[in-house]
Amino acid sequence: MPATDVMLASRLSPLYLEQLSREFATHPIDSAEAAKVRGFAASGDSKVPADLIAKLPALEIISVMGVGYDGVDVAAAKQRGIMVTHTPDVLNDDVADLAIGLMLSAARQLPQADRWVREGHWAAKGAMPLARKMSGARLGLVGMGRIGQAIAQRALAFGMTIAYTSRTPKPNLPYTYYTDARELASRSDFLVAITPGGEGTRKLINREVLEALGPKGILVNVARGSVVDEAALIDALQRGVIGGAGLDVFEAEPNVPQALRELPQVVLAPHIGSATGETRRAMANLAMDNLRAHFAGKPLLTPVPECRPAG
Ligand code: 8YV
Repeated sequence: MPATDVMLASRLSPLYLEQLSREFATHPIDSAEAAKVRGFAASGDSKVPADLIAKLPALEIISVMGVGYDGVDVAAAKQRGIMVTHTPDVLNDDVADLAIGLMLSAARQLPQADRWVREGHWAAKGAMPLARKMSGARLGLVGMGRIGQAIAQRALAFGMTIAYTSRTPKPNLPYTYYTDARELASRSDFLVAITPGGEGTRKLINREVLEALGPKGILVNVARGSVVDEAALIDALQRGVIGGAGLDVFEAEPNVPQALRELPQVVLAPHIGSATGETRRAMANLAMDNLRAHFAGKPLLTPVPECRPAG
């Protein structure tokens, strides 16, 4: 039997790519063989718009290696009966760990502390400026899905009080719910974005929310760059409207505005939320297992919610 044809988005993880090339006939995104492509392999930050889907008449499944799939036009896929899968849960720990890491880094100024020693300021100037305490502070989570809950669990160990906003309240959770991000920000010392990207959350964290967070507040974004109004954030940091930020995601990755890179009270990371060997392997395996299940006529392991069977 000839190998099934699968198209590859650019910049896939080598852990996914290696398995794909072993088991399928793989084609680059602009392949002349688009007509026979039955599967599409993507990552969380890939763009799979309607016009690309339209160029693939035999497409049956889009398997995203990532929990976020805001780059995929799921409505266009669904219209053609194309299934979309993603890799939830296996990355919860890593993204939650990084959120806590960025909170601590921004509050305790860990990158600055490292530089203080390396650059000889300790010996030359003495102690570095005092930082901000994290234990016992108020955490506001924008999003309370599986990763949000993993962050909350960790924050409890720091004695933090926890509140959140999300589309609907989750009455089974012991945290305070606010209907809007601005109200939540006004009652938080740390505001952490961990909500899906896409149109529904675009620029949810805007100038008003940042003003509500206030001059001592710290914003952490481990969601999508689109969730924060980046221009408003830069302005708020430059004018001291908020105290600092820890950012893993940006509006136009991998390009990070020079203005952000120049701000000393900002900790930056290159979208590494799920970037450990253990987790990326688990994500690649799950993305592969979804493709394997589909082409073997078996039920999908982790279809995106929009593609789950009703009932
Ligand atoms: C990576 C992510 O961007 O899971 C997501 O939604 O953003 C990340 O884990 C990527 O998908 C890794 O391939």
